[in-house]
Amino acid sequence: MPWYTEEQIEEVREANDIINIIGSYVKLKRSGNNYVGLCPFHNEKTPSFSVNSVKQMYKCFGCGAGGNVITFVMQYENYTFKEAMETLADRAGITLKQQEIDAEHKEQESIRMRLLEINKKAASYYYTKLKSPQGKIGYEYLTSRGLSNETIRRFGLGYAGWNGGELYGYLKHEGYNDDILKESGLFKIDERGVYDKFFNRVIFPIMDANNRVIGFGGRVMGDAKPKYLNSPETKLFDKSKNLFGLNYAKLGKNKNIMLCEGYMDVIALHQAGFTNAVASLGTAFTMQQAGIIKRYTDEVLLTYDSDTAGRKAALRAIPMLREVGINTRIIHMEPYKDPDEFIKEMGADEFRQRMDSAENSFYFEIGLLRQKYEANDPEQNTKFYHAVAKKLLDFEDKVQRENYLEAVAAKYFLRRDDLKSLVVRYGSVLPSVSVRDMPISGNDRRNILTKDKGIEYSYKLLLSMIIEKPYLYSQIKDIVKAEDYFGEPYRQVANMLYEQLASGEEVVPARIINHFMEAEVQNVVADIFQTNFDADMNSAELEKSLNELVIRIKEYSIDKRTRELVDINELKGLIQEKKALQTPAKLHIYLKDG
Ligand code: UTP
Ligand code: MN
Repeated sequence: MPWYTEEQIEEVREANDIINIIGSYVKLKRSGNNYVGLCPFHNEKTPSFSVNSVKQMYKCFGCGAGGNVITFVMQYENYTFKEAMETLADRAGITLKQQEIDAEHKEQESIRMRLLEINKKAASYYYTKLKSPQGKIGYEYLTSRGLSNETIRRFGLGYAGWNGGELYGYLKHEGYNDDILKESGLFKIDERGVYDKFFNRVIFPIMDANNRVIGFGGRVMGDAKPKYLNSPETKLFDKSKNLFGLNYAKLGKNKNIMLCEGYMDVIALHQAGFTNAVASLGTAFTMQQAGIIKRYTDEVLLTYDSDTAGRKAALRAIPMLREVGINTRIIHMEPYKDPDEFIKEMGADEFRQRMDSAENSFYFEIGLLRQKYEANDPEQNTKFYHAVAKKLLDFEDKVQRENYLEAVAAKYFLRRDDLKSLVVRYGSVLPSVSVRDMPISGNDRRNILTKDKGIEYSYKLLLSMIIEKPYLYSQIKDIVKAEDYFGEPYRQVANMLYEQLASGEEVVPARIINHFMEAEVQNVVADIFQTNFDADMNSAELEKSLNELVIRIKEYSIDKRTRELVDINELKGLIQEKKALQTPAKLHIYLKDG
């Protein structure tokens, strides 16, 4: 934690019993170790808000809010972490040491606030300039690219003038000093002086999901290089965590998100009525961005450029989206380069047709694989077979996999039986325990089946099981290791939990949560600790479920490593690892009663 020591945070947390604190805000009714009530974070008539006195955590099964006592006060009172700490310390009669580190945090917060102000002022400065006589060149550029006044206003587009020091002069006059202006990323500073980073460019403000300007892009109006200049990373701007246009992205009736590469693509798409467009802005797509998209939808329509770089970027993004449970389809724009150009030439209706006939990402991937391997070279052909077989493993459903196998064999004139036997070989390392058999309630099960979040639920279940019955750890630790959990926060939670258990410490879930700063991640972690096995299972059933769970997680891990395999020779080792897994006597985990 940045401005209190972990000991201090723990002291405050322990001194404030969660049942007491939440009970003072929400009417709670006891049921076993849990207390339930109406969730204060969303409107509801039947209680889905649950507080656990042993775990010292709360969780709403309706809206997903969850965390420990500190998180609760933050969420309820709309407090910062520091304010929540102060309130709770005060209640418990703890004096928080006012350390210099505390002052430093205050300073950081105020820097962020001032940077936001500066960005806001800069954005209106550029916008005003665009509309002024000096901005005519920028305004004409944008309209020549087909943008309407309404679009320019909506996206707050602007123009940075010729002079190279205008914005600096303006912000100085507004009372900002060089130190803070330097941090804004809007200026270049050297021995000779301070200059505006952007000059003679049209300006694209980058907004976060809350409509706050966090950075800028600026485009030259001709062919000069670099074509776009972007804000550097600042205290406000982290490229890997933002998507341009997300603040306006509305899920249309198809409920998917259109992912493209550039500023102009998003803007042109929105103007043409495709208001679900966002862009990763030419930087490599990140897992964080995939995670953000997953909050909104399960389907992405990819409209990356139709050049080599765009295809390469698509091949990178598809598995990342798949990893978070998003299904991707590819919109083809040939002979045009990007959606902006396509719409300009062909219009929105044609684009909608391309959208409706978007290609399944599997065929897209196979198509590109085919180009990668020389068709007339036997060795290359073998590699192609292997690659296709591995890709077919992406389909967990056997019937679906079979259908795709037939289709792809026919399409590429592959010997069906050869391909099939390769799939079987690779397939012998695929998970076999279905989510249908998982020990979870009907609602969760439906979620898993529709959202393909099976493995995350498995992680949650197993971790919560270990927390509930710590003696399981010694049996499980050599089978499911922390490295067998894929994706965060699961692996990190597993790591911390295993560490606490290995050192014989008492496991304190609410303490693990202290390590995750972002409210959203805290919700997921809280979820891990609140996931419950069916209460009405007897212990034999529970033991069976637990063992299936362990196998499933391990199988998933082996499967994942198989898919990511680059050297075909390692396949043998993985098959053996998988075989070992099928020797149940050796791996069986026993549940003690109670
Ligand atoms: P493109 O080169 O495909 O540009 O880069 P574009 O979006 O089609 O731009 P227009 O239509 O010519 O105006 C895609 C994205 O990559 C980033 C920008 O975010 C751009 O929108 N990029 C590109 C840069 O950051 N810098 C560059 O020099 C070029
Ligand atoms: Mn373009």
